[in-house]
Amino acid sequence: MSKENDIEDHYSHSSLLASIKKGLEIQGKSTINITLDDIAPIDEFHIGGRQASIDFFEQLNFDSSMNVLDLGCGLGGPARFVAQQFGCSVTGIDLTTDYIDAGNQLSEWTGLASKVKLTQGSVLDLPFQAGSFDAIYMMHVGMNIREKERLAKETFRVLKPRGVFGIYDVMRIGKGDMLYPVPWATTEKTSALEKPEEYQTYLSAAGFSSLSLRERGRFAQDFFEQMARKMDNVEGPPPLGLHLLMGSNAKEKASNVLSMITEGLLAPVELIALKAS
Ligand SMILES: C[S@@+](CC[C@H](N)C(=O)[O-])C[C@H]1O[C@@H](n2cnc3c(N)ncnc32)[C@H](O)[C@@H]1O
Repeated sequence: MSKENDIEDHYSHSSLLASIKKGLEIQGKSTINITLDDIAPIDEFHIGGRQASIDFFEQLNFDSSMNVLDLGCGLGGPARFVAQQFGCSVTGIDLTTDYIDAGNQLSEWTGLASKVKLTQGSVLDLPFQAGSFDAIYMMHVGMNIREKERLAKETFRVLKPRGVFGIYDVMRIGKGDMLYPVPWATTEKTSALEKPEEYQTYLSAAGFSSLSLRERGRFAQDFFEQMARKMDNVEGPPPLGLHLLMGSNAKEKASNVLSMITEGLLAPVELIALKAS
């Protein structure tokens, strides 16, 4: 199996849409009256969920004329949020076919299919022409990508001059041994965590100038503590949540990440870069 197959295998979930429908029904919703807020607990697959997207996108200066690319879009929650909130046209690309299929259906259900197009493919080989996008972002994807230099070059190629590239990834910020499983990998074979400085080196080699960097460790601790409380609720976990994507060992994955963040080994980090010309 190739590494990309292993990654897709890790994320694949063939009954995803059925699980989402069931979760919606429990909340008295159907596919004809759902809002982005209803599905945010499951379609924003990164630390901090919707709030993390709001905080991150605040720095990217989107406007309604923009054509935006979401690298590793997953189910497309962030892409739909950008389309609805800022009026942008958003293209998402992701390796995992189950996510793309379910995500395009969610865009139909939420009335955003004309603004959001999700497509299956690898961020290491983008099927787009040079200079196709005004802005590009990536949320919690680099942790699976060892070839970050190539990712930075591909991103630079498809971005227009003066476009921004925003990254929100879990990065290594201190020394220590990794614990597995984690939400993005079952073993070290498909995990590729790197330091913010290493990301900056690859970005700079591709031609980007660095604009800003922000560590979100404390914010992440609060998120995981809240998630643990919800999952330990006497009534059971909520009908829709990231536990549905993370599988039967979701609690162990969340607890491992929380321990490593608390020990100062990892943190989610936002990095914003500019293609100056
Ligand atoms: C933790 S999820 C994040 C999904 C989405 N960005 C979000 O925040 O909701 C990581 C995603 O990265 C995708 N991914 C990993 N490696 C990829 C690659 N080489 N090309 C495209 N997608 C990739 C996975 O399929 C998965 O959907």
